[in-house]
Amino acid sequence: MRPGGFKVGPIEVAPPLLLAPMEDVTSLPMRRIAKRIGQPGLMFSEFVSAMAIHYGAKKTLKKLRVHPDERPLGIQIFGGEPEVMAETARLCEEAGADIVDINMGCWVPKVCKTGSGAALLKDSERAAAIVRAVVRAVAVPVTVKVRAGWDWSLFTAPDLVRRFQDEGVRMVTLHARFAKQGFEGEADWRLIEELRDAVDVPLIGNGDVKISGDALKMFRETGCDGVMVGRAAISNPWALARIRCGIAGEPEPPEPTLPERIEVALEHVRETIAYEAHDDPREAEIRAVRSLRGQLPLYIKGVVGAALIRNRLTACGSYSEVEAVLLDFLASQRNDSGS
Ligand SMILES: Cc1cc2nc3c(=O)[nH]c(=O)nc-3n(C[C@H](O)[C@H](O)[C@H](O)COP(=O)(O)O)c2cc1C
Repeated sequence: MRPGGFKVGPIEVAPPLLLAPMEDVTSLPMRRIAKRIGQPGLMFSEFVSAMAIHYGAKKTLKKLRVHPDERPLGIQIFGGEPEVMAETARLCEEAGADIVDINMGCWVPKVCKTGSGAALLKDSERAAAIVRAVVRAVAVPVTVKVRAGWDWSLFTAPDLVRRFQDEGVRMVTLHARFAKQGFEGEADWRLIEELRDAVDVPLIGNGDVKISGDALKMFRETGCDGVMVGRAAISNPWALARIRCGIAGEPEPPEPTLPERIEVALEHVRETIAYEAHDDPREAEIRAVRSLRGQLPLYIKGVVGAALIRNRLTACGSYSEVEAVLLDFLASQRNDSGS
């Protein structure tokens, strides 16, 4: 049987394919492109610092913007103070989030040293208090994204998520690694299978899904309700489309052509400039182009000669420069192929 959709409270998630929250990646412009081309059933914002929202940081407040096209959308928040998290969750709901997700997976020191992110895996009382406060603060479903535990092989997630479920969490995502691992090694999908027995709410598996075969294998081996894709979707919304079709048993669309990739890369830049300019037009173009430095080269990754223009692309400071580099590259490819 093909994996179907599922519900998170009143929110229908179909297809059971989710775009992962990714800092500096899953911004509003990226999500709209991912939705149009890849059509995942649910997407998440990059994580939003509850403390920064509390202090009214403009750069962070803009991450709460939601466009009707991209719904259902989850806004992910992180923090270590229950009341501050509750206050931010209310703002997410007001902004139009369909779901508020709590980050308990981020392992980087700048986040963990404030008692947020994966540090909560070591402090179950505080973690439960945060879940309780956020669930009470909003009417939309509250979900949690966790890792398997803090230390290598100390699988604390089952006890924790059972508690979260008692506090009213409506979905759990497991990135199948331990916090101390960072991104090392392979994700261990047996952890997802084991967590399946601990929770009744929808369980989302995450870690190392790149193609539809991986997604189908994850469904089959773990019994998860949905599959979340992160890195494979960066600058590659077509990967989501292929995985979605593979899950549904439909023919997968072909790889995008180079002109298609370039067209979408340029759209991403234009939309990011507009997004940056929305609240503050000063230097919006250069801020937008710089913010995409890591992502632009990935649009043409794998094309012969792409590595050679990487430095030129990352040095760009304006839309017209990015366009010139990419269109030059396209022309050189056409010349090489003799067309
Ligand atoms: C650039 C980047 C930024 C990330 N930012 C977040 C984040 O803000 N919140 C979060 O829960 N996970 C974050 N993650 C982790 C992903 O959501 C996901 O759990 C992880 O990449 C594993 O999935 P994958 O193998 O499909 O990439 C980030 C990952 C990457 C690569």
